[in-house]
Amino acid sequence: MPDKKADRRGGGDRRTGSPGARASREPATTPGDRRSGSDRRDDAAWQPVSIETAAAASDSDLALLAAAADARTRAQAAYSHFQVGAALETADGVVIGGCNIENATYGLTLCAERVALVKALSDGHSIFTRIAVVADTEAPTPPCGPCRQLLWEYCGDIDIILGNLNGPTGRVRLSALLPMPFDRRLLG
Ligand code: THU
Repeated sequence: MPDKKADRRGGGDRRTGSPGARASREPATTPGDRRSGSDRRDDAAWQPVSIETAAAASDSDLALLAAAADARTRAQAAYSHFQVGAALETADGVVIGGCNIENATYGLTLCAERVALVKALSDGHSIFTRIAVVADTEAPTPPCGPCRQLLWEYCGDIDIILGNLNGPTGRVRLSALLPMPFDRRLLG
């Protein structure tokens, strides 16, 4: 019988398997979480998902972070001044960089992760293993919501390596950031 967990951790196509198993075992709310009380925007009650610490970074993680930091130097962030770089790795070991690209409408901003993804897809790559994201922040800068959606659809449950200008800040699986995705399996 195929081991779905092993499938999703393997180096092949990570767009298979059954997401949400972990989430379904957990209670819908926990005491003190941000959904308690009448005002549910309580930042003080908010807790991030747990991520692996920088100590877990391997040499290959560091190399991918370096590629993301290099892409970040080409960020077009004249409006936010928040420069981000990403580096997406294919199963073949090809690394595709991307930086955020802003414009005067603000709303048409392209995140670094999405730029790396569309470059890679456009070049014919289709199987991905990891993405590194680098920003000049002390805390890890994770992919935004729309990027999580697109990464999930096109990359599956990849590893996300987070870093700043000094080195790694964390490591997390995409399924931990997007535990109950909407994707094509729901379209029937
Ligand atoms: N940004 C990214 O490129 N990736 C992220 O993970 C977070 C946000 C960009 C979008 C925008 O250009 C700037 O950072 C501020 O939100």
